[in-house]
Amino acid sequence: MRIILYTGKGGVGKTTIAAATGIKLAELGYKTIVISLDVAHSLRDAFDNHEKLVRQREEKQIQIKDNLWIQEINVQEAIVEYWDDVYSYIRSLLNRSGLDSLVAEEIAVFPGMEEICALLYINQYIREKSYDVIILDCAPTGESLRFVSIPTTLEWYMSHIFKLERNLARVAGPVIERVSSVPIPRDNYFQNIQDLFDKLEGIDGVLIDPKITTVRLVTNPEKIVIKETQRAFMYFCLYGLCIDAVIINRIFPDGVDAAYFETWKRSQQHYIEEAMDYFSDVPIWKVNLFEEEIVGERGLHRLADTLYSEIDPADQFSEERPYLFQKTGDVYQLSMRLPFLSKEEIGLTKHGDELIVTIGGFKQHIALPRTLSNKKTTGAKLTGDQLVIKFEGEYRT
Ligand SMILES: Nc1ncnc2c1ncn2[C@@H]1O[C@H](COP(=O)(O)OP(=O)(O)O)[C@@H](O)[C@H]1O
Ligand SMILES: [Mg+2]
Repeated sequence: MRIILYTGKGGVGKTTIAAATGIKLAELGYKTIVISLDVAHSLRDAFDNHEKLVRQREEKQIQIKDNLWIQEINVQEAIVEYWDDVYSYIRSLLNRSGLDSLVAEEIAVFPGMEEICALLYINQYIREKSYDVIILDCAPTGESLRFVSIPTTLEWYMSHIFKLERNLARVAGPVIERVSSVPIPRDNYFQNIQDLFDKLEGIDGVLIDPKITTVRLVTNPEKIVIKETQRAFMYFCLYGLCIDAVIINRIFPDGVDAAYFETWKRSQQHYIEEAMDYFSDVPIWKVNLFEEEIVGERGLHRLADTLYSEIDPADQFSEERPYLFQKTGDVYQLSMRLPFLSKEEIGLTKHGDELIVTIGGFKQHIALPRTLSNKKTTGAKLTGDQLVIKFEGEYRT
């Protein structure tokens, strides 16, 4: 069982590469599904198989060929399937506040819902062993990071807030209802959240297990795109995911020698070298700019052949784990790989048995092993791409 995420800036070629990977895997005999998480879906268009797509329009998973399915996540549909009661409650709350029902319906789909819906499907496929490989055609980087951070965020919400809310509603609910018109959620609302959470159970572990899940960053040889790829690299490390390849797409091939493109070619060469240097720890795969848009099975096939002529895309190409807990004498330390970061950008807080690492707008709660929860952090140092945090002190029991 493998899960492979393809992500990167808008337009770099994520969907095309994810689709081509699907074709290659299916041909190698893996039962494969390519799932699009980008609200601006273009996965169906990449396959450009009008007849099959029309025939299976009503299906969630569309079969493209032997061993290959595609799915574009539809939030409204997934909500009805997985989260109808919770959604109804939120909608009714919004309705009471004077919004008309159509607007309430729109707003009730709060940010992060696409990602949660996708996670629900993925966890279902994992539990039911429906596929050998799940390829995720992710949204541009920011949303993809939200996607991978949701399992730990939910975990945190459930253990810190949810129980409290539930007790509060049980105790104070009847009183509040007498004095205000706001409906208090019934116990089945909480039961539904609990059910939803149960359906997601285990997905956090799956995402950070490098034997199952790896991320492939798609980039182009351009300054701004490479810059974003560096940030993405660091953030995926922050969330504990293993990146096992960087794909540089849209490289001008040698044959292009028109004077008009000279500057472009020189600049691409410069950024390719820079990328090879930045990402030297992981394999880098290069893809030329084709002479035309890559649509339809034939084009995707050609792309798959250039990318994976001698390799199996289901393999795992790097095993580096972003976190490592170690003990030397009485000192414990947590090493985190966080490349491309300066120390001014990092915020660290230890709170009981968790360490909270903040970088920019992103926050990661790292559950500490039990042995560390009662110790004090006695230093944090960023050397090269390693953040090393030391923990010392006596046990307090
Ligand atoms: N190497 C390439 N050569 C030619 N066209 C490409 C190449 N990679 C991507 N494209 C084209 O670029 C467009 C955007 O690619 P797409 O995969 O949809 O990007 P993303 O999913 O990252 O937004 C598509 O029309 C696709 O066919
Ligand atoms: Mg896309």
